[in-house]
Parts: sequence; structure tokens; C-alpha cells
Amino acid sequence: MNTLTTRGFHHITMVATDAPRTLHFYGELLGLELVKKTVNFDDPGAYHLYFGRDGGRPGTILTFFEWAHARRGHWGVGGVHHLALGVATPQAQLKWKRRLTDAGVQVSGPIDRGYFKSLYFADPDGQVLEIATAGPGYAIDEPAEALGRELITPVAERLPAGRDEQAIARLTHPEPVPVVTPDMQLDGIHHITGITDDLEEAGDFYERTLGLRIVKKTFNQDDAQTKHYFWANYDGATIGAHSALTLFGWPGSRNVARPGAGQTHHIAFRAENAEEQLAWRDHLLSLGVEVTPVRDRSYFESIYFHAPDGQLLEIATDTPGFAIDEPSEHLGTTLRLPEWLEPQRADIERRLVPLS
Ligand SMILES: [Fe+2]
Ligand SMILES: [Fe+2]
Repeated sequence: MNTLTTRGFHHITMVATDAPRTLHFYGELLGLELVKKTVNFDDPGAYHLYFGRDGGRPGTILTFFEWAHARRGHWGVGGVHHLALGVATPQAQLKWKRRLTDAGVQVSGPIDRGYFKSLYFADPDGQVLEIATAGPGYAIDEPAEALGRELITPVAERLPAGRDEQAIARLTHPEPVPVVTPDMQLDGIHHITGITDDLEEAGDFYERTLGLRIVKKTFNQDDAQTKHYFWANYDGATIGAHSALTLFGWPGSRNVARPGAGQTHHIAFRAENAEEQLAWRDHLLSLGVEVTPVRDRSYFESIYFHAPDGQLLEIATDTPGFAIDEPSEHLGTTLRLPEWLEPQRADIERRLVPLS
């Protein structure tokens, strides 16, 4: 029995090809804070950009490796299908639809998923994104204290044949939305949806390694043949914020994810501090999971391992955070380098495209 339970996601890291474009899309259009401008510590010629909320609160952090020449990836088994960002209300979600559409982004939805409403689009590299409403939540079709016990067949209205696609397409905010208003603020990771070739094995793995618990067993509402399971930090009463991992099951599929631009590189879960990180590492080793030594990422400490389907995972500490090397009121304004790369600063800066 796992005595450790992750509180949820720490960050998600994606691959982009053009840092100024990424900054424009996530910073200006989606209104996220750039909380750190640094380089990939394993490849210092490339940017590593960190976005977040409230100075980079765990669970709200989106990071990007910029690899200008990365080939386009594709989702599949062992990879992430899409990242959903949270928004408070359906009204604010409609404002996002208008803002994105006016900016030339192709948007579909909002589609009523029952547990939340979903808006879909992609970033400029092709990463599939969703904006999902906070509610009504997972307790609409089973008791809050007994989530995930039964396999639930979606009601007919939520399947493609039951939707009025034209009405959905027409629905938007009546006025242009030139600025991100406070009600629209995206609150980090609502859920992350991946693809696995074995739902039972994946579920067992996430439960044993990370202490996540099943909270919904249902079917993909766009493809009723595909099972769709949800896990989260769940104590039998409430679901932790920024903790929902969902997987589509493609049993026996060899359609493996192809890493690259527009794909997620890895998903990171939370450890509270360095001490708990070591406990996580021991725990993973005790389960026979291959895990890296602790690596210092300046803003957190990291260990890496894989799920049985190939998904790259990380556990990152909440501490020390992004204010360790620049004042919290000026996060993301200058290029930060770890001490051991400082001697190469002039060289590194020459190779990077200026962001502003
Ligand atoms: Fe989703
Ligand atoms: Fe990471």
C-alpha cells in the first residue's frame, strides 16, 4: 500500500519550435505569466520557457523546450493527447472562444462533457489544448464518496449524434475580448489526457507509484468504443486541484506516440520538498521502477521515470521555486542561467533569438 500521495501535477513540459511565437501565444493571447526565461540545462543553446500563475504555483506551470528544428510529433500510446487548462465559468469560457477565434485560432466547442464543458484548439506547434470549466465535477453521476466504482455509459445527448453541432459552433461571446479579464484567468492544469495501450496496467501503476485514485470510468464521448478513465488525488470526499490524469485506452495498440514539436515531453507530479523527494525515490525503487538520481533544476529538484506504456514522468519538488534567482515582482524578465552556465552567458545569449 502506497503511503505517499502526490498532491497533483507540478508542471507539464511541451516542445515548441519558435520561442517568440510561444511567448506570444501563451503569454499575450492566453494571458499566462512568463515566470522564468532560461535555457535547457541539458542543451543550453535552446530556450526553456516557464509560464504559470501567481509566480509559478505548482499545478499551474507550463514549460516549453524550444527546439527550432524539431520535427512535428504525433499523439499515440505512451504520450499525451491534450492538456486542459481550467476556467471558472461557462461564461468566461465563451469569452475565450471569442478571443481565440478573433485571433485566428480555430476553436471547437464548447462541448458539454457532463463533468465540465470543453473548448478545443491547438497551439501554433499543434499541441492540442482544451479550456475546461471548473464544474460541475465528477459527482454528477455517482456519489462523491464512491467515485470510479462503476463503468459509466455516457448519456445519449453527450455522444456526437446527440449534439447540435451547428448550435455549438454558433455559440460565442457577443463582444470582442481584447484583454483577458479577471474572470477569464486560466487556472493552470485542469486535467491532462494521455493514451495508453493497457488501462488496467496504467491505473495500477499510477495508483501504486503516485497514490492517485480512480475517480471515473467511462467512455470517450467522441468515440464510444474507447474507454476513458480518470485518476486524481482523491481522499474519498474531494478531488485535489490540478490532479486529474485521464487516459484513453487503446488495448494492444502499437500506434505509439511520436515525440516532437506540438507534443508533450513529460508530465511532472509534486513532491513537497527534497526530503519527500527522497522518500518518493525509495518508494519507486521498492516497486522495481527505474528512476534517475535527483537532478537539480534550480527552481525544483527532479527525478524521472517511465509509466509501463512509455509515458515519461517526473516528480518535482515545490521548493525552492522561481523567486530563488530573481525578485518575485520581476520573474521572467531577464535570461537566468544556473551558476555553472554563467561563464558561457555571452555565448549562449548570442545564439538565442531575443524574445523582446
Ligand atoms: Fe479533456
Ligand atoms: Fe520537468
